[in-house]
Amino acid sequence: MFKFTVFLIFMIFISPSISEDLSGFVECEGTFPIKITHFAYQPELIIANRSVKLEIGGTSTVTIEEGAHYVNMVYRDDILTKIHVRDFCKTWVEPSGGHCPVEPGKFYFEWNLLASSIPQIDPINMNITELNRITIVNPVGYTLACIEGYLERIYL
Ligand SMILES: *[C@@H]1O[C@H](CO)[C@@H](O)[C@H](O)[C@H]1NC(C)=O
Ligand SMILES: *[C@@H]1O[C@H](CO)[C@@H](O)[C@H](O)[C@H]1NC(C)=O
Repeated sequence: MFKFTVFLIFMIFISPSISEDLSGFVECEGTFPIKITHFAYQPELIIANRSVKLEIGGTSTVTIEEGAHYVNMVYRDDILTKIHVRDFCKTWVEPSGGHCPVEPGKFYFEWNLLASSIPQIDPINMNITELNRITIVNPVGYTLACIEGYLERIYL
């Protein structure tokens, strides 16, 4: 109990700004070994081909192995229009100062990226609200975590 209390106090001190807030996203239906409790993005208006900062945090009951993927499925009017696949360790873990494998427990990672801009499929001069289904997938394709929600993107 004492150890647990010290751990809790420690967590509160090292993560004073990590809110338990999914920015309007919800967990997907199902049961997943990683529970995402924090998801945030900046700026509030995401503009194609401009920088965006994403934050993700939560609690994992499994090890995140080298070769895991971050997959964002983007739907427009219920139609799957884009699938963004990235190496989870290289885009999220390493730039945040960590390394894979990530042991079970609490985690918090950030990713600075350019908002996607794909001239062949993206509109011009339009604001679109898209459903984003964000997952973490282990190297053999098993979904470890899933949240989904709507984001407005501005296409120039
Ligand atoms: C993204 O922005 C850069 C720099 O402003 C520009 O050169 C490039 O053409 C843009 N790409 C797309 C796909 O809009
Ligand atoms: C998109 O949204 C921004 C910010 O709300 C607004 O300034 C802009 O006029 C909108 N563009 C279009 C094409 O509706």
